[in-house]
Amino acid sequence: MPKDIIGLLNKDLEGEHGAIIQYLNHAYAMGEGEVACEIEAIAREEMRHLDWLAEIIVELGGTPSFRRGKMRKPGKLIPGWMKDNVLAEEDAIAMYKQHIEAISNPKIKRLLRRILSDEVAHRGKFAHLVDKVKREDMKDLRGDKKDKVADTLNWGIEHEYTVIIQYLLHSYMAGNEDTKNEMQDQAINEMQHMGWLAEEMVSGKGSPRLEHSQVFKSSNMANNLKADIEIEKEVATEYGRAARELKDTGLKELLLRIKGHEDYHAALFGDLLKEETKAKSKQESKAKPKKETKAKSKKETKAKSKKETKAKKKK
Ligand SMILES: [Fe+2]
Ligand SMILES: [Fe+2]
Ligand SMILES: [Fe+2]
Repeated sequence: MPKDIIGLLNKDLEGEHGAIIQYLNHAYAMGEGEVACEIEAIAREEMRHLDWLAEIIVELGGTPSFRRGKMRKPGKLIPGWMKDNVLAEEDAIAMYKQHIEAISNPKIKRLLRRILSDEVAHRGKFAHLVDKVKREDMKDLRGDKKDKVADTLNWGIEHEYTVIIQYLLHSYMAGNEDTKNEMQDQAINEMQHMGWLAEEMVSGKGSPRLEHSQVFKSSNMANNLKADIEIEKEVATEYGRAARELKDTGLKELLLRIKGHEDYHAALFGDLLKEETKAKSKQESKAKPKKETKAKSKKETKAKSKKETKAKKKK
């Protein structure tokens, strides 16, 4: 039974992931402004849903799926995007209703009902935004610029998206509360980076590509942290190199600021790894004495019985 529930909750999680990226894509493409802020606020609520669902899945002994659920490709006109978002919310509403019916655990039912009430409100907000973006004659601000700067920005966006997922996943797998909180904080910081880079891309008439690459996942937390440190060191170097090559001082400063954060992440993850290793060896040494005493007493009995047989033989 828990396995079935985990499967359903993972479907919900995948749906939230798809919605977040669909909405962020719209918000970035609209540039700064009230509507973009409203959409980002909805995306943030979907992130909270994703977080709650992942927590419950882990509690049930499952692993959160970070596959991305259905996303609607944006057409040419912004009112159409808002209609797509209404449809995305309708899909979510239908799925949550089904899952509330299918799951009997009262705690999970309660959580899904809580999320459902948000999705109903989001549907209403997006329906309202269809008219608002028409009235304000909002335009897609993205262009098709494909130069070295655009390549660098899309490389950064892909990296940030990847580590957001990776750190969230590692946070859910961490046994230690401190590690969990720190990993989540850094994931939020990476979301900021992704937003900055995407906005920079749109203001330079490029088009952000919101795709991620392979995420590192191990059941051993120390291995996860080692991979996280390695990736941070690599990108810090890469951001530094890219910043040196850029002519635009604003963009240079932005990349150096992000580089500073990545250096900090690498050092912080180093501390978390030290703590993880310390806690592990403490656990092991707690478990060891029993083994040692057992082994010792075994040796002693062996030696004793040898002595006895020798003595007996002498007799
Ligand atoms: Fe949601
Ligand atoms: Fe970052
Ligand atoms: Fe980082």
